[in-house]
Amino acid sequence: MQFDFSEEQLLIKHTAKEFAESEIAPSSIERDKEAKFPSDIVKKLGELGFMGMMVSPQYDGAGLDTVSYVLALIEISKVDASLGVIMSVNNSLVCFGLEKWGSDYIKEKYLKPLARGEKLGAFALSEPEAGSDATKQNTMGHKEGRHWIINGMKNWITNGTTADYFLVMAQTDKEKAHHGITAFVVEKGTPGFGHGVKEDKLGIRSSDTSSLTFDNCKVPEENIVWEIGKGFNFAMNTLNGGRIGIASQAIGIAEGALDAATKYAKTRKTFGTEIANHQGIQFKLADMSTKIEAAKLLTFQAAALKDAEQSYLKEAAMAKLYSSKIAVECALEAIQIHGGYGYVREYLVERYLRDAKITEIYEGTSEIQRIVIARELLKD
Ligand code: CAA
Repeated sequence: MQFDFSEEQLLIKHTAKEFAESEIAPSSIERDKEAKFPSDIVKKLGELGFMGMMVSPQYDGAGLDTVSYVLALIEISKVDASLGVIMSVNNSLVCFGLEKWGSDYIKEKYLKPLARGEKLGAFALSEPEAGSDATKQNTMGHKEGRHWIINGMKNWITNGTTADYFLVMAQTDKEKAHHGITAFVVEKGTPGFGHGVKEDKLGIRSSDTSSLTFDNCKVPEENIVWEIGKGFNFAMNTLNGGRIGIASQAIGIAEGALDAATKYAKTRKTFGTEIANHQGIQFKLADMSTKIEAAKLLTFQAAALKDAEQSYLKEAAMAKLYSSKIAVECALEAIQIHGGYGYVREYLVERYLRDAKITEIYEGTSEIQRIVIARELLKD
């Protein structure tokens, strides 16, 4: 399979690269150290159309395809993976689901400002006791008149303290197990809705992750996405696209690590020559580059299938499983090539490792991706 990118797709990649290098790179070390959320940059990404890339212009999005989205996300994540996940959640976990399954009212009221990047979205499925085992929702919703009352807690929510609109999955009929879960849009500031403190994380430190609390939080019935009882189906289908986003983020991290290692190998000298002339280093660079190409092929395949409206569930899981694995491997090798300099903050490569690890955990751990792939392989 060969991918010939269109002029438009290459222009998107170029725009993302330029933006990442000029607007994101200069403050990325400071933001990582201080765990500072990049509000100004997110706003500018919105102005570029990067927060609602795949949303149709009818709903104020950029109307681009998933392949363009992958190209852009790789470039952004190569420079700063924290911005990668902020962008990925808004695009693939929030805007995508609202456009596909939201009512006209929801699209008008919530999707449009999210796609314009004026508002930020978050996706709330995980709970203290429902991470991988996502069907075991303890956040409950019951109906009172024309409202739903939500009680419970969510955990590990990207954009948790900064988002304006939250997609919240809640159990509305316990008897029906995962067929009794419903998705709601909850606005920041709704009485009874709050968030915990921002988590102090190993990596992607300038992104914002927190818990959410619901204490008799009253949500209007028109904020139900799709239908009552369709929330788990909604979450799973949305996560399939999210996994393409995280695969792209992982590829960006791996490419960043390879670039840094290549640059360093060409200047650092040992035994009378640049280390790039040592076969041991060349083999590492060759392996890193080969793995990145393989990860890209898997990810573009999943993106192309999604664009062609074909099934991409298995392919998205494969793309995320492999890309996240090689992101960690490439980051480790980049540190090894840098030797002691790779182990200190000043040289940035240690951040690639800290940022890479989460890609094997969120939006479905590597073990969950293997379950998804195996179930597809084994089904009749
Ligand atoms: N796409 C579409 N549907 C899927 C699906 C997928 N990838 N995976 C499961 N389903 C459907 C099944 O077809 C089934 O549907 P029906 O009952 O209607 O036939 C239903 O979901 C339940 O599936 P299973 O019977 O297989 O249930 P299970 O409990 O054995 O397994 C699971 C489900 C695959 C493990 C699922 O719980 C899962 O994917 N867990 C991981 C959750 C996850 O990725 N969480 C990340 C949260 S977001 C995040 O990380 C935070 C952030 O902000 C970035």
